[in-house]
Amino acid sequence: MKIETINVSLKKDLELFSYPIFVGNNLLTRADNLLNKYIKNKKIIIIHDCFFSSKPVLDETFKEFVKSIKEITISVNLIAISGGDQTKNMIELTNIIEKTLSYEIDRECLIIAFGGGVIGDIAGFAASILLRGIKFINVPTTLLSQVDSSVGGKTGVNSKLGKNLIGSFHQPVAVIADINILKSLPDREFRAGFAEVIKYGLIKDKSFFNWLELEFENIFKYDDLKLQKVITKCCQIKADIIQEDEKEYGNRALLNLGHTFAHAIESFGNYDGKIIHGEAVAIGICMAFKFSSKYSFCSRSDTERVINIFKKSKLPTSLKDIPDLSITTLTMVEKFKYDKKTRNNKLTFILNHQIGEAFIKHDVNVNELIEFINEEI
Ligand code: GLY
Repeated sequence: MKIETINVSLKKDLELFSYPIFVGNNLLTRADNLLNKYIKNKKIIIIHDCFFSSKPVLDETFKEFVKSIKEITISVNLIAISGGDQTKNMIELTNIIEKTLSYEIDRECLIIAFGGGVIGDIAGFAASILLRGIKFINVPTTLLSQVDSSVGGKTGVNSKLGKNLIGSFHQPVAVIADINILKSLPDREFRAGFAEVIKYGLIKDKSFFNWLELEFENIFKYDDLKLQKVITKCCQIKADIIQEDEKEYGNRALLNLGHTFAHAIESFGNYDGKIIHGEAVAIGICMAFKFSSKYSFCSRSDTERVINIFKKSKLPTSLKDIPDLSITTLTMVEKFKYDKKTRNNKLTFILNHQIGEAFIKHDVNVNELIEFINEEI
């Protein structure tokens, strides 16, 4: 399989800065070739999901990755952390930072994040503040992180008051998305990642959504070429958006479709695995569509199509699918205050005019929201 490369080009300090996202099969064992330009003769810290030190099959891929990196670098130190959202906090961040400093790093040193979205977010944030900023490379190992969180430079941790409330924008210098590693992912994680894939079709690309409706079964069978198309397409859509609006002053917020609901839902679960991010995103997107059709922004038939693809992908589509979380309308609306799109207590949601056309709706009427959530619960 040919390697696909998507380039993300951004303006930084009045200069153009660009980084590649490599998408292909078995890339990790030849990472030294792909990353040579960035890591040769450098000290490397790999912050990785401890999952890779405990599973024998995956261990092999990870070991080979580390071996290939060692070929061309001065030193490689490993820091293992747990990949769940419960790890994504200031205490764990401090541990990572102190440990990294103990390896006597300098500003030439580089961090590699090897794992899912939580690992990329916390390792990227550590890189952004260590010695006032060092470079990092993302090696996303879940579908969700390959299509979304590894690209675009959002890094950070959760606060007790909400998800991703502490963080920075810090772009990676390269991203490697290896399709092969997805095959060892738990089925639940893979399906959850598919929610973010569907999101891209819904935001901006109806024909991609139509194609996903036809091909989702082959994608769930890990058809290599179809998976490569999925990851490449999502990363290209994301790259196009962030090249225009890196810091989310405008249209980057479209990537947040379903996320205001999702972040609130996840925080009810205390990040203990009852509901994982992609599952909350699936419910959040369905809610955004139901809200859009309730208030006549989009057709009921589009909303039905959206709910259908999530159902067929065995993802939850409604708050009723997660009765254990004891969510009430008022506590949910309370959480929206901490959404990063909220200004002066005015709520902003991403809604849809139709499949493939999302829009930013400022100043959403709270009474309408309350009425809507009452019906949903
Ligand atoms: N995951 C949404 C964004 O990167 O903006």
